Amino acid sequence: MHAFVTGGAGFIGSSLIDRLLADGHAVVAYDNFSTGQRAFLTAASRHPAFRLVEGDTLDLPALTRAMGGCDTVFHLAANADVRFGTEHPRKDLEQNTIATFHVLEAMRANAIRRIAFSSTGSVYGEAHVFPTPEDAPFPVQTSLYGASKLAGEGLIAAYGSGFGFEGCIFRFVSILGERYTHGHVFDFYRHLRRDPTRLTVLGNGKQRKSYLYIGDCLDAMLLAMAKTRRVIDIFNLGTDEYCEVNDSIGWMCERLGISPAREYTGGDRGWIGDNPFIFLDTAKIRALGWEPRLNIRQGILRTLDYLQQNPALLEARA
Ligand SMILES: NC(=O)c1ccc[n+]([C@@H]2O[C@H](COP(=O)([O-])OP(=O)(O)OC[C@H]3O[C@@H](n4cnc5c(N)ncnc54)[C@H](O)[C@@H]3O)[C@@H](O)[C@H]2O)c1
Repeated sequence: MHAFVTGGAGFIGSSLIDRLLADGHAVVAYDNFSTGQRAFLTAASRHPAFRLVEGDTLDLPALTRAMGGCDTVFHLAANADVRFGTEHPRKDLEQNTIATFHVLEAMRANAIRRIAFSSTGSVYGEAHVFPTPEDAPFPVQTSLYGASKLAGEGLIAAYGSGFGFEGCIFRFVSILGERYTHGHVFDFYRHLRRDPTRLTVLGNGKQRKSYLYIGDCLDAMLLAMAKTRRVIDIFNLGTDEYCEVNDSIGWMCERLGISPAREYTGGDRGWIGDNPFIFLDTAKIRALGWEPRLNIRQGILRTLDYLQQNPALLEARA
C-alpha cells in the first residue's frame, strides 16, 4: 500500500501510521496540527517510507497535490470533539463534511479509489436497538458532529456508486489507549490531578458507553480493508460490553488511590448531543475473524497509565 493518512498527527492517525510502516507500507501523513501532536510522529519521521505534508483538508489544491502517487486513503482528519458542536455550528460541517468532500475530490483527481473513513457510533443518534447493528433504523441526529459524519458517509457511498470508489466506513465507539488526547478519561484525570478531593461529573454518571482499545481498533480497520473489495462497506467497531461513567470513574480512582467527592450536574446526559447509551453490535467485523484483546476496564487503565506517564499532553490539549 502507498497510504495517505489525513489527520496523521492525531491520536488514531499517528498510531495507524506506525502500524502501516511496521507492516511495510509507504505512508504520507497530511495534517494541519490543529489538534495533532508533532511528538506522535517522531518515530515515523525516522522511517524512509514516511513523508509528512503539513496542510489543511479545506485546501483542495494542496490536498490534491499531496495525494499524488498514493493508492489508499485513510481519512481521519476531523473535528473529533462531539461536545461543543452547538457553540460553533459551522465547524463540524466544514471540518467533517466539506473536508470529506475535498478528500473524495482529491482522490478522484488522482485516480485513487480505496478509502477508509473514521465515522462514529454517534451517527445512530439515540438508537432504539441495542446492541445497535449497522442496518439499524435510520437515525435521528442529536449532535452536529454525528450529523456531519453521517453526511460524510453519504458522500463516500455516493462516490462508491458514481465513481467506483471502494473501502470501509468505520463507526467507532470511543477509542482508548496510548496517545489518547481527548475524552472522558483525559478530562477526569486532568481535573483529579489538580484536585484529587472532588470531581464534577456531567450528567448523573449513569450514562452507559462502550469503548475500544486503539490496538484492537487498528487490527479491525486493517483486516476489514484487506477483505473489502469493490464496495463501500460499513463496520461498527467496539467491544461487546459497555460500562457506566460511574464505573469508569471508580476504576480510575482505584488506580490513583483516591476517593474524590463526586458532584453531578444532573440529568441523564452530559451535554446536548450526549447519547446516554452507546452500545454497538460488532457481529459483522467479528465475522471476519476479529475480536478485541482488551476489555473496557483494561483500556481505561492503560489510557490512565499513559496519561500519567505523559503529563505534558494534558497541557498540550488543555
Ligand atoms: N477518538 C475517538 O474516540 C473517536 C471516536 C469516533 C470517531 N473518531 C474519529 O476518528 C478520527 C480521528 O480521531 P482522533 O481521536 O485521532 O482525533 P485527533 O483530534 O487526535 O486527530 C485528528 C487529526 O486531524 C487533524 N486535523 C483536523 N482538522 C484538520 C484539517 N482541516 N486539515 C488537516 N488536518 C486536520 C488534527 O490536527 C489531528 O491531528 C476523527 O475523524 C474522529 O472523528 C474518533
